Amino acid sequence: MIRYKDIGFRSVERSDLDIIRREHNEEPVLLMLRDPGIVTETMQNKWFESISSNRNNTVFTIFYKSPDKVIGVWKLQGLDEINRNTEIGLDIFSGYRNKGFGQKSFQMIFRYLFDSLNIHTIHAKIGEYNIISLGAAQKAGFRISGKMRETLFRNGRYWDNIILDITVDDYRKLSKQTGG
Ligand SMILES: CC(C)(COP(=O)(O)OP(=O)(O)OC[C@H]1O[C@@H](n2cnc3c(N)ncnc32)[C@H](O)[C@@H]1OP(=O)(O)O)[C@@H](O)C(=O)NCCC(=O)NCCS
Repeated sequence: MIRYKDIGFRSVERSDLDIIRREHNEEPVLLMLRDPGIVTETMQNKWFESISSNRNNTVFTIFYKSPDKVIGVWKLQGLDEINRNTEIGLDIFSGYRNKGFGQKSFQMIFRYLFDSLNIHTIHAKIGEYNIISLGAAQKAGFRISGKMRETLFRNGRYWDNIILDITVDDYRKLSKQTGG
């Protein structure tokens, strides 16, 4: 378990699965995702086995103060141990949004990946229609570095998938500026 200020993260346990599936299947979240297919309990059980046995493609539960007070999840996707880069995703559950947990979670994840796992570059992909997440990610220190044109189909049309990244040097500069 890793702690940062008043939040932390730990492995996903079976007892977290119901809340994760419920949140995932809510329309506002589902329609933001690359795959807006509804997840069933059986599908989720397979997903749980997969994330529990693969350290390079996995998910962690984010909590507030106590490990059983679950407020979201973050995903490590395609951790490349040779080139020291990875994609991440962050999902703060609906009742906890817009209270600063997103920013704190990004800082916690950056600190863990850069200072403990020795990652050099972190990237994220966010649909161009997901204005709130694009704002939140850039506020945390990500910079837009490219886009995959017309690779997401939503609301009857194709949208770009925006690529954002932050390098360890960006992170160190940012930490100096913010005194973090
Ligand atoms: C993106 C997300 C993680 C942000 O988490 P959060 O806890 O709500 O964000 P914070 O409270 O830390 O807010 C940080 C910034 O996000 C933006 N933001 C958050 N909620 C917003 C809202 N309802 N309207 C406009 N901007 C908003 C603002 O820029 C805000 O900065 P400000 O407080 O100075 O205005 C959260 O909205 C989420 O989980 N979204 C769904 C999943 C997702 O799309 N993830 C992609 C990220 S890789």
